[in-house]
Amino acid sequence: MGYALLTRCHIGEAEALCLGPCAVVPEAQRSGAGGAAVRAALAAAREAGERWVVVLGHPEYYPRFGFTRASASGVSVGFDVPDEALMVLSLDGSAVPSGVVRYAEPFGV
Ligand SMILES: CC(C)(COP(=O)(O)OP(=O)(O)OC[C@H]1O[C@@H](n2cnc3c(N)ncnc32)[C@H](O)[C@@H]1OP(=O)(O)O)[C@@H](O)C(=O)NCCC(=O)NCCS
Repeated sequence: MGYALLTRCHIGEAEALCLGPCAVVPEAQRSGAGGAAVRAALAAAREAGERWVVVLGHPEYYPRFGFTRASASGVSVGFDVPDEALMVLSLDGSAVPSGVVRYAEPFGV
């Protein structure tokens, strides 16, 4: 029905996770599946000791999971994105390190 994928990324030299892509089959969208997948992925990451998550996505959607504007934490990407679309989340309450996000190689960015 849907999924939320977390991949290894770095913020500067610090290990972090990138949330995305996330998707739900069209006929099941807006029925809670996406939110359930995202919450499950974030809970598993927290359980595994991960600390920070970056997402590039709908600025109306991700704040409900605790994501906030990345630029306020000094986090950026090496290509043009609308400022409000890049968001970060601390899983353990620690300050998100500032720096440029380096995505996993298959993303090609
Ligand atoms: C974005 C997506 C993963 C959300 O999953 P979902 O199961 O539809 O969402 P949920 O049912 O958990 O949550 C519903 C809420 O999400 C919001 N929402 C859904 N799609 C949205 C979108 N494209 N933009 C903004 N908000 C969206 C709804 O407005 C709703 O908000 P409300 O609770 O305030 O009414 C899903 O709609 C999807 O697969 N979209 C197409 C692919 C995509 O855009 N993926 C994200 C980029 S990687």
